[in-house]
Amino acid sequence: LSLCGIILISAYLLGSIPTGYTAAKLLKGIDIREVGSGSTGATNVLRTLGKGPGAFVLFIDCLKGVISIFLVYRFFEFASNQSLIPQTINPENWQPWMVILAGAFAIIGHSKSIFIGFSGGKSVATSLGLLLAMDWQVGLATLGVFATVVAISRIASLGSICGAIAVPIFIILRHQPLAYILFVVVGGLYVIIRHRSNVQRLMAGTEPKLGQNTAVIE
Ligand code: G3P
Repeated sequence: LSLCGIILISAYLLGSIPTGYTAAKLLKGIDIREVGSGSTGATNVLRTLGKGPGAFVLFIDCLKGVISIFLVYRFFEFASNQSLIPQTINPENWQPWMVILAGAFAIIGHSKSIFIGFSGGKSVATSLGLLLAMDWQVGLATLGVFATVVAISRIASLGSICGAIAVPIFIILRHQPLAYILFVVVGGLYVIIRHRSNVQRLMAGTEPKLGQNTAVIE
């Protein structure tokens, strides 16, 4: 049980690693939370620092999600090998619940980072990493939805919101366990709520497109 706690704390700390914030501080000496959308995520880094840093932050933030889930997989492997799991418990039933708990901790870590005063990003890249590790086909399909919407609209937030809406459909089509369905519905809602200022701008027609120069988005 204490090992489970260590995994969840690790997932939160991993999610908390402030990639975008650190990149902006190191490369430009600025606080990314005070420019553009104020988010520490890859989109705002792309907007503020350019393509290279944006891609780097996207990759690392995605990796934080992947590693969080692999910690759980390794934990169950280790526990089975060491016969730490009681005979009465079927690990296959429990692993999905532990996966989604670790996923939730990583998502919260990314958007409420302990290292930067509980601020952060909108958890899109980290969620993509989680999905890729949970079911890579679902992860790729979601990335496809995001990329298609962004290619057409040039608006990252619209791609993220459409991706969040599509994930439960993909998870159900793949016959994933109930835990995963619950997770992507609640997680998707959380990601959409994190985009509430984007939604307001989308409705007002003022959401900036990629490549548009945006000093501070009000
Ligand atoms: O992935 C975050 C993206 O959906 C929106 O970012 O900076 O435009 O609010 P931003």
